[in-house]
Amino acid sequence: MKVIILMIIAYLLGSIPSGVWIGKIFYHKDIRQFGSGNTGTTNTFRVLGKPAGTIVLLMDILKGTFATLLPAIFHITNINPLWFGVCAILGHTFPIFAGFKGGKAVATSAGMLLGYSPIFFIYSATIFVICLFITSMVSLTSMIAAVLITLSTVILPTVWPSVLPEHNWLLTIIATGLTLFIFYRHRDNIKRIKNGTESRIPFGLNRQK
Ligand code: G3P
Repeated sequence: MKVIILMIIAYLLGSIPSGVWIGKIFYHKDIRQFGSGNTGTTNTFRVLGKPAGTIVLLMDILKGTFATLLPAIFHITNINPLWFGVCAILGHTFPIFAGFKGGKAVATSAGMLLGYSPIFFIYSATIFVICLFITSMVSLTSMIAAVLITLSTVILPTVWPSVLPEHNWLLTIIATGLTLFIFYRHRDNIKRIKNGTESRIPFGLNRQK
């Protein structure tokens, strides 16, 4: 019973639509009406600027982190904490507080990794930043990084065990599922990437001119 209640709390935590609420409360703007229409960090940066984007990035990451730490806080040991992160990611993408239309699962998945292993999170964030510098597209970066991070869950325990000491099949299975889900959530972005209209950030090798 305690596990179910904590999973619901993790979902509700993930459901906090940071971008929508920050936009409405501090900028009197609904970010769903502008830019890509997404509720996530990238569209918040695009529509509301750097301070709001940074706050939403932190909030969306921390939702996943806090949810993943819930079992440790409440001394639950019979279930892998990653499942609580998954509940927060489902809340983030299908938020009860915003008509079940939420983000694309990227920042909250990163937060789950932070809750799971801060060192693996730093490794993953570094991969993300390198990909972002090369592509200058957050959407493409999110998909490439998801694939590389999933592969890393298998390879690192052998080649770089100080980052990920042991192979956790559940981490690999969840990362694979999330990667497929992230591709699915980016299907409009994929169309725009193909026809050359996807928006780019103002830095990196392929930045917006
Ligand atoms: O995390 C979402 C990002 O990958 C793409 O966002 O607003 O460009 O569709 P957006």
